[in-house]
Amino acid sequence: AANPAAPRPLSGRHVLVTAGPTHEPIDPVRYIANRSSGRQGFAIAAALARRGARVTLVAGPVNLSTPAGVDRVDVQSALDMAAAVDAALPVDAAVMVAAVADWRVATLPQKLKKGDAPPALTLVENPDILAGLASSSQRPALLIGFAAETENVLEHAIAKRVRKRCDWLVANDVSTDVFGGDYNSVHLVTDAGVESWTRLPKDAVAARLVDRIAESLTGIPA
Ligand code: CTP
Ligand code: CA
Repeated sequence: AANPAAPRPLSGRHVLVTAGPTHEPIDPVRYIANRSSGRQGFAIAAALARRGARVTLVAGPVNLSTPAGVDRVDVQSALDMAAAVDAALPVDAAVMVAAVADWRVATLPQKLKKGDAPPALTLVENPDILAGLASSSQRPALLIGFAAETENVLEHAIAKRVRKRCDWLVANDVSTDVFGGDYNSVHLVTDAGVESWTRLPKDAVAARLVDRIAESLTGIPA
């Protein structure tokens, strides 16, 4: 149950979180996926709600229960996710944790049959939901991207923050055991520099990030 004495610095704020993978259909029964569990995004949504925010959680296909006090919208593909994000606006802050597929399959034929010639899948680029939000007329006051990197983590993260035009970028080193695990090592990249939070439970990463979000929104009119 919610602790009535807990501070709720985000009350009156609407925050969007995207989480999980996307599934990109190949045919009516098959899809392309990735290893995102959705746990870090769900932990952030839960922490935001505990701090009083109204939370819209746009979730790809995951095996997780909805955190208390969170409005959840389930989606499958990147195109679905982009539409659900659009429908959630306006928001005061957005935390884009989802591992959105960069490509979808160009055509959706009938179910492919084994007797057919082996199919060549043609991929087309998906819309970049974060970059779209960054350049939209409804850009949130605080826009946070995530990046899963396997090498040159900081260098890629610093460049990605600029390229995506987000305020903060949280870089995840996924060269080790992050996907599906309980721990995370992240770097918070802002215009002020880099802070490294190493090997923390995903709930602790969420709590720290949400404290920073609450601090940052103080002084921005609701
Ligand atoms: N993102 C998004 N829409 C996409 C792809 C990514 O909103 N189509 C968001 C992710 O949710 C994340 C951020 O962009 O917050 C960075 O995702 P990432 O995959 O690291 O960035 P990319 O620009 O796709 O670069 P890369 O080539 O490293 O995959
Ligand atoms: Ca990508």
